[in-house]
Amino acid sequence: MIFGVDYYPEQWDESEWKEQARLMREGGFNTVRMGEFAWKLFENNENEFDFSFLDRAIDILADEGIKVILGTPTAAPPKWFVDKYDGVMRDKYGRKRNWGSRRECCSNHPDYIERSKIIVSKMAEHFANNKNIIAWQIDNEFGCHNSTRCYCEHCRKAFAKWLKNKYKTIENLNRAWGTVFWSLSFDSFDDIILPEYNSCEGDYGNTWSHNPSLDLEYRRFASDSWVKYQKMQIDIIKKYSDLPVTHNLMGHFSDIDAYDLSKDLDFVSWDNYPDNQWGASEYEYVSMAHENMRGAKNKNFIVMEQQAGPAGWDILGYTPPPGQLRLWAYQAVAHGAEGLVYFRFRTALFGMEQYWYGVLDHDGKPRRRFFEIKQTGEELKRLENYITGSKNLYDALIVKSYENDWAHDIKRHARGYSYRDHLYAYYKANDDLNITTAVSRGDYSDYKIVYMPAYNVVSENEISEIGSFVRNGGSLVLTFRSGTRDTYNNVRPIPVPGLFSELAGIEVEEFDALRRENHVSGKISGTAQLWCDIIEPKTADVISVYDGEFYKGKAAITVNSVGKGKVYYVGCDLDQSAMKDLAALVARNAGIEPVNAPENVEIIRREKYTIALNYSDNSVTIPIKGHELITDHEFNGILEPYGVAFIK
Ligand code: GLA
Ligand code: ZN
Repeated sequence: MIFGVDYYPEQWDESEWKEQARLMREGGFNTVRMGEFAWKLFENNENEFDFSFLDRAIDILADEGIKVILGTPTAAPPKWFVDKYDGVMRDKYGRKRNWGSRRECCSNHPDYIERSKIIVSKMAEHFANNKNIIAWQIDNEFGCHNSTRCYCEHCRKAFAKWLKNKYKTIENLNRAWGTVFWSLSFDSFDDIILPEYNSCEGDYGNTWSHNPSLDLEYRRFASDSWVKYQKMQIDIIKKYSDLPVTHNLMGHFSDIDAYDLSKDLDFVSWDNYPDNQWGASEYEYVSMAHENMRGAKNKNFIVMEQQAGPAGWDILGYTPPPGQLRLWAYQAVAHGAEGLVYFRFRTALFGMEQYWYGVLDHDGKPRRRFFEIKQTGEELKRLENYITGSKNLYDALIVKSYENDWAHDIKRHARGYSYRDHLYAYYKANDDLNITTAVSRGDYSDYKIVYMPAYNVVSENEISEIGSFVRNGGSLVLTFRSGTRDTYNNVRPIPVPGLFSELAGIEVEEFDALRRENHVSGKISGTAQLWCDIIEPKTADVISVYDGEFYKGKAAITVNSVGKGKVYYVGCDLDQSAMKDLAALVARNAGIEPVNAPENVEIIRREKYTIALNYSDNSVTIPIKGHELITDHEFNGILEPYGVAFIK
């Protein structure tokens, strides 16, 4: 099992490397990830290559039995490259992204692609026979620092080509996009523009806007561009090496389609920072991010950067209290991690991340965090056979669609509405009931319940797949704004919820984008704040009705029997407690009994054991007993503050 640290030997005097490697071994670390920001050291001037510093570092680590995951350095281009080739991104206003931080470059810039090919080839060739390397990481966090979409001329031309390949003729494109609207028809692919402004960016309604088809296609294209750029690097590495290749993704981040990005990778890894300068995450939000990353390839993953201390760039997030780092590690494992690499070994003395605390403080002295992580590593080693290759017994799936994320961002429906928050509300409700829930897409037959919240852009094909899941006995939960758009992001000329109407057994007569509260009552009672679909049931039964407004008494939530299965339609948003009632109702109807546990406790079921995680700082008692695998003792049901149990 990979248990490691992110390491930057180039940031320390070489005389310290040996002692650092020794301390790593003492901490129980068996792997480092390194190299990913060292382009300038590898190629000080154009075509002058020197990998010797990394050779020496790898040797020293090897002496301590520590293996290496090598990162390609293309996230941080050197100044000579930018000076000579430009290569940097342009923002919506045509401004250059000046060199001086990282992630400045454009995935469609031919010279960036070319120089990336060269440095990656040289690196792959040089390290091909080094037996101490166990895997490759491509680049670093594609899309980070708002770097997915670029508005340069190279991107515009590449986009036109991408469109030509898809639509063949400009007439097809004009028809599909409805460019007749406002006389926006293109005469040729050469005329294609980039959607510099979102439909209603900034304050609602006060800005310029573009065709929503253009906007959605551009987001698809920009995501594809990085997938293609990554594939270019993977292909080069595979020419020299049989080692597995990964990239460090970013959990909930959605500008790049994680399914597409992972498709070409041997395994997924990701960077997990639950609490930092930008806020503290609810534990369910972190669990969902892990599931999102497991779902990207529907396979276990590793955490490539796991938070190791207080974290921030200029101000700091809070200090993880005793037990928190250990709990985060087990949370990752409980949601599919098979390896953990901590960011970073020793805290930087210089550079932007002086306050992003690693396993060791600035002075390099082992303290509480070091010892807690060390203990975690020792425990995980003992559990290794239980962890590697294990899979949760999933009951439910939340379908996450990147296209829908983009479409919802282009047309945001209602003030305060967010697709990602909507998905999270459903995940949280299920997680709080300890209904083991995956976040992915496809392969519906693995689950009893599928949530397809706000599945706005949908194809006929997707409808027929989810239809057979339901007919074969599955439960499907749909919510407002589902099914209304085709894959060009045009509205369908049929009643809402469009292609889902027949499955749901309803028609939406009218809707109300709320700017006040409304209430629903019935089997589920609660409050809506964003949206109310006014539902006319056709074959569906009513679960709840609205309490107020001109549609008082009209259906708000319905259920329809289809074949052996059921389709729920939830026409409004709900407060979290009503959401939980709804998730419980759906589960019970599908024969799944929620696991009763105290608040802030997560219970995950696996074939051979159950994992219990206590996210609170109190001791709690859970109604599960058995043999505890970490301690190898009988488990009496008591979880310490931030405690964990693997119960057989
Ligand atoms: C990201 C990056 C790292 C580092 C950390 C901490 O996850 O991949 O290089 O910048 O954040 O800020
Ligand atoms: Zn560009």
